[in-house]
Amino acid sequence: MKGKLTTYENSEELAAGAAERICRAAAESTAARGRFTLCLSGGSTPRRTYTFLARRQGYAAVDWSKTFLFFGDERFLPPDDERSNYHLVRESLLQNAPIAADHVFAIPTHGSGPQQAADEYSRTLKAFFGGGGAWPEFDLVLLGLGDDGHTASLFPGAAALRATDCWATASPPGVLPPPVDRVTLTFPVFNAARQVMFLVSGANKAQAFAEVYQGRASVEQRPAAGIRPASGRTVWLVDRAAAGALSDRP
Ligand code: 6PG
Repeated sequence: MKGKLTTYENSEELAAGAAERICRAAAESTAARGRFTLCLSGGSTPRRTYTFLARRQGYAAVDWSKTFLFFGDERFLPPDDERSNYHLVRESLLQNAPIAADHVFAIPTHGSGPQQAADEYSRTLKAFFGGGGAWPEFDLVLLGLGDDGHTASLFPGAAALRATDCWATASPPGVLPPPVDRVTLTFPVFNAARQVMFLVSGANKAQAFAEVYQGRASVEQRPAAGIRPASGRTVWLVDRAAAGALSDRP
C-alpha cells in the first residue's frame, strides 16, 4: 500500500494537521477546477478535524462557497440520531461554518432500507459528477481505519468489498458498534479520487495500520488494503500511538 506518511505526536496535533492539509487541497482544487469536492468520513478523529476546519477563517481557510460535501458512508439511522455520521458532521462542521445547505449531499436514511438509500445516493452522485458513466473524481476523500482494518463501512469479509459495478451499496453491520445497517461508497469510487487521506489515531489501530501500510494485509481481512487510488495519492496522517507497530519489515 504505502503512500505518504506523516506522524503526529497525538490526536489533537493530527486533527490540526489534517485541517491544514484539507485547506491546502481546497485551495489547489478551486484554483485548478473552480470547486472543491470533499468526501467526509465518520469517526472520532475526523470529528476533531472538522472542528478545526470550522474554526479557520479568512486567508488559508476553506472557501465554502466553492466546496461541496459528500459522505463516504453512513449508518442507517435518522439524521438527528447521535450515532449518525451526518449528525457528527452537522455538530462539528455544518453548524459552525458558512456552508449552504445545497452544498451538502448527505446519504439518505429515510427510505425503505439501506440498499434503496445506496441506489438513491448513487443517482445523486451521478447527477452531480455527470461524466457519462465514468467513476466520480472527488478532489479529496477522508477515511478512517477501524482496529479490525475496516474503512468507511467496508467491513472484513463483507459482500460490499466485492461491489465493483456500483457507486454505493448497503453493508450489514460489522462487529463494531453501533450494530446498525450501513450505506457505503465502494472501492472503485474511493480509488477514482484525486487524493485519499487516512486519519488514524490510537494504539488500538497500530496492528491494522502496520499491516495495511506495509502491504502485509489482504483486502478481505483488512479492507483498507483495497484503497489504492489510481492517482497514486494516498496520504496517511497517523499519531504516534497508531504508528507504534510499524516495523522495518517490508
Ligand atoms: C464510521 C466510519 C468508520 C470510521 C472508523 C474509524 O462510520 O464508523 O466511517 O469507517 O472511520 O471506524 O473511526 P474512529 O476514528 O472513531 O476510530
